[in-house]
Amino acid sequence: MNTEMKTVQAILEDSFADDFEQICVFDCIDSTNAEAMRRMQAGHQTSQLIVAGSQTAGRGRRGRQWLSPAGGGIYLSLTRAFDRPLGELQGLSLVTALAVLETLLGLGLDQARVKWPNDILIDQRKLSGILLESCGNGGQQIIVFGIGINLALPRAVVADIDRPVTDLERELGRPVNTANLLVDLLENWHRHLASYCSEGFQPFVCQWNSFDRYHDVEIDIISGNTRISGIGRGVDATGALLLETASGLKTISGGELFPSVRPGRQE
Ligand code: BTN
Repeated sequence: MNTEMKTVQAILEDSFADDFEQICVFDCIDSTNAEAMRRMQAGHQTSQLIVAGSQTAGRGRRGRQWLSPAGGGIYLSLTRAFDRPLGELQGLSLVTALAVLETLLGLGLDQARVKWPNDILIDQRKLSGILLESCGNGGQQIIVFGIGINLALPRAVVADIDRPVTDLERELGRPVNTANLLVDLLENWHRHLASYCSEGFQPFVCQWNSFDRYHDVEIDIISGNTRISGIGRGVDATGALLLETASGLKTISGGELFPSVRPGRQE
């Protein structure tokens, strides 16, 4: 393992040994989410933390790739078991996004915002993505929380991504210490998760709505062949998106959000 990842491993083991059954750090792996799933299937069903310095087959939402070069980002997956049906766990991905957001605000990145359900943006440039995957086990759901944060993407990689992206080094004008970033993120995530498990998403609604990049902005929600247009009005107490459409306020639980491209849009 390279020196940086050895340091990361030592610091994570020092700080979080009691919080995870396993902490595994790799220089390079196919996908930390795939590794978490493999470990679950091999019987490690409780809490794991998998961190990698690069991924050869990083997975994004909707079957996309998550380009994961060494030094370009930090890539991690966490697992937790929940005794509730999947349908009641929608808020988890938003709560995870808020943990990432708080970590970035703590670095001085005041312009960081959330995009429903779980992206972190600087203006319209994506800085971090989250992919939740699940695996049912009797009455329990085991959720894999995959988080990717761009640290310093090489120009060639930026050119290969078909959407606007950015990274921490560009936005802050300085490099970031990976181990410190992970410690802050994991502390925020644990705190948010504990609060979500006892009180649900309600305590997070206000924070989400004040950092929502598309609050009061014209957006389209695309799901399969369906497009619904309206004005984003934040989220409700379950984490569903509220969209004010021509036919009234709609509650949206799935789909992908795009800024509206229609002429005369508000922004
Ligand atoms: C998205 O499309 O926005 C979600 C990207 C999630 C990427 C992370 S990187 C760590 C973890 N392992 C993966 O293969 N994907 C997630």
